[in-house]
Amino acid sequence: MMNHYNIKKPFRHFLDLAALTKEEAREIIEKAKKLKTAATEEGHGKGFIHKDRPLTDKSLAMVFEKPSTRTRVSFEMSMHQLGGTAIVLNGHDMQLGRGETIADTAQVLSGFVDAIMFRADNHDSLLEMAKYATIPVINALTDFSHPCQVMADVLTFEEHHGSIKGKKIAWSGDGNNVAVSWIHAAILFDCELVLACPKEFSPSNEVMQWARDNKGKVTLTQDPKEAARDADCIITDTWVSMGDKDEEKRIAILSPYQVNGSLVRLSHKDSLFMHCLPAHRGEEVTDEVIDGPHSVIWDEAENRLHIQKSILMWCFGK
Ligand code: CP
Ligand code: NVA
Repeated sequence: MMNHYNIKKPFRHFLDLAALTKEEAREIIEKAKKLKTAATEEGHGKGFIHKDRPLTDKSLAMVFEKPSTRTRVSFEMSMHQLGGTAIVLNGHDMQLGRGETIADTAQVLSGFVDAIMFRADNHDSLLEMAKYATIPVINALTDFSHPCQVMADVLTFEEHHGSIKGKKIAWSGDGNNVAVSWIHAAILFDCELVLACPKEFSPSNEVMQWARDNKGKVTLTQDPKEAARDADCIITDTWVSMGDKDEEKRIAILSPYQVNGSLVRLSHKDSLFMHCLPAHRGEEVTDEVIDGPHSVIWDEAENRLHIQKSILMWCFGK
């Protein structure tokens, strides 16, 4: 497997939060706040275009090896609102699905468009795309990480509760791709992260070691109550991610990690509940929580749009 943390950056790929500096991550969040204000406070429809059209003449190929609702729509609308163009490509409809290599695909797309957004089955495929593309590549979810999502989550947290620095974030459930990006974010944004995950579905030792090496306040427990106690935010995600095969086993092992009313009552009285969606109501989260007063899931989903714009502009050096 290729090294996740040591990609050379001849231009600005957005591959993982672990590859950003704290300053870069902060710049992307602050820019997203400004773009959101411009897009929402002027009473525009969703089809509006930012006056200065910062991505005029820029184009994005969006390559999907897995399904998507939020990521697809938010990136496509981002390019439109920034004055650029987006093309959606289903990996299975491309020659990629018939065996054309990622390296060749990367070089061909680099001749047609200005950036590639890639939702890949396998993280190594993303790294290969980035290695051979001569244009920026954006990670739109892999089996390893989901950095765009977690940047939207940080934006959402700060909109509701101000700076995330020093705040306690709890994760209860599968130590999956979103959890890994949260581990990276805990270092970038200096927050405390307590992950409650069963042994079988904990983040890898490699990622936990990375957090320790970077002096993060990241801990792993098998007790969801320990994570939730006095937390400022509780987060979970599906127990069966795209590509996971062992559904029955996962549901059985992850059941004690459900985010329900009694777990949320252990958290800070103003705590937030977040979920990247799609949710499996009654599994990882109850209706009481996801539809309840702590939940900010609709803001979180909308913020994918505002953060994508900022990520795109950062990739283009704007
Ligand atoms: N949260 C997220 O990435 O959603 P989609 O799979 O719908 O893009
Ligand atoms: N962990 C989930 C996130 C979906 C947006 C998955 O990979 O399927």
